[in-house]
Amino acid sequence: MQKTVCELFAGVGGFRLGLEKSSPEWNTVWFSQWEPNRTKQWAHDCYVAHWGDINKYTGVDISLVPKNSIPNHNLLVGGFPCQDYSVARPLPGSSGLEGKKGVLWWQIRDILVAKESPFVLLENVDRLLKSPASQRGRDFGVMLACLAVLGYSVEWRVINAAEYGAGQRRRRTFIFAYKNDTCYGRQLIDSPQQIIAETGFFATTFPVQCKEIFKQITLDYQDIPGLSSVFEFDFKNAGYMKDGVVSTTRVTPIQEEAIPLRALLEQDVTEKYYLGNKLEKWKFLKGPKKINRTSKDGHEYIFSEGGIAFPDSIDLPARTMLTSESSVNRSTHIIQDPQTKKLRFITPIEAERIQGFDDNWTNTGMPEKFRYFVMGNALVVPMVTRMARKLEEIIDNE
Ligand SMILES: C[S@@+](CC[C@H](N)C(=O)[O-])C[C@H]1O[C@@H](n2cnc3c(N)ncnc32)[C@H](O)[C@@H]1O
Repeated sequence: MQKTVCELFAGVGGFRLGLEKSSPEWNTVWFSQWEPNRTKQWAHDCYVAHWGDINKYTGVDISLVPKNSIPNHNLLVGGFPCQDYSVARPLPGSSGLEGKKGVLWWQIRDILVAKESPFVLLENVDRLLKSPASQRGRDFGVMLACLAVLGYSVEWRVINAAEYGAGQRRRRTFIFAYKNDTCYGRQLIDSPQQIIAETGFFATTFPVQCKEIFKQITLDYQDIPGLSSVFEFDFKNAGYMKDGVVSTTRVTPIQEEAIPLRALLEQDVTEKYYLGNKLEKWKFLKGPKKINRTSKDGHEYIFSEGGIAFPDSIDLPARTMLTSESSVNRSTHIIQDPQTKKLRFITPIEAERIQGFDDNWTNTGMPEKFRYFVMGNALVVPMVTRMARKLEEIIDNE
């Protein structure tokens, strides 16, 4: 089996870079990246600046791409948003599942139907497992059910990159799905408990301890609209699904030493990244507060929030970087520069290092605020490189 890849929601190529850092054998045959409501497509341009374009459709809304025009591939990768995956029962006479327009899970599902990708590696926020708040676990349940219908088994894990040696406390759900008729699928005959704790894709890549009880549930995956309307389940941070039987438990990572932010900082950072006379404004933003507010309907209430670390500790890994990193927002990192002892923002290169990208990866012509934005969207590249090693073993064995 060839190590051919299709990268969806490619951003600036975190998955591709992570795979290629592991082996030159990975061959990305197609990618898709389109930022909604923007004329200038900075992420797509950055991706193309590194790897060139492939053929048509790489820079358009994935929902407009005819799925059978996508080249065949053996690994489908992508980081996609947590949205509402619910489905309504189709009208009598209509066939097939109609997901809501604009919900990107349905694009992934349609590609899997058209291309039958044997292996799939997806990334999403940790909240995916609990969404929506009003019907916890429904969305992930719908996703697992769709994958079961298409003949996939699934392993998942919530991974905090800092617990496995990275420089950022970024917690994300990774989902590995594989067709039941692959060698990997046929050979993995261990119990769900063993797969989750010892022998599966994530357990061997990101080792864990497992002391909690396992929970099991069977998904009625033949009736996804019915499942969507009633399903609720407390998915834990690790799990496995085969033929609709879901096993899950809370695992504890066997932690590795993280990289402190201090080790990722640049030297001799120019004046423009310093806070200057904005200190009071930032103190207020980051500090605890109680403010009287009036809602639209005239109701008065007290808005309150606790304080957060100010400045950010550089002896810890960075906090989760968001797309708003460059804006006036309390989640923006502010550090005390160890050379000058003055407060400053992180630089675009530091943002890249926090995500494990090469220095100046996004220095491809986009304005600085977009360099932070695309980094906030990206993933921690070394996490993918680790998974790549295991994926190589699996694909070589096919
Ligand atoms: C969470 S980010 C993934 C970033 C990527 N993993 C990286 O390393 O940069 C999701 C990406 O999907 C893109 N996107 C959103 N809607 C899209 C659509 N309808 N078609 C194609 N891409 C889309 C966004 O522009 C964003 O770059």
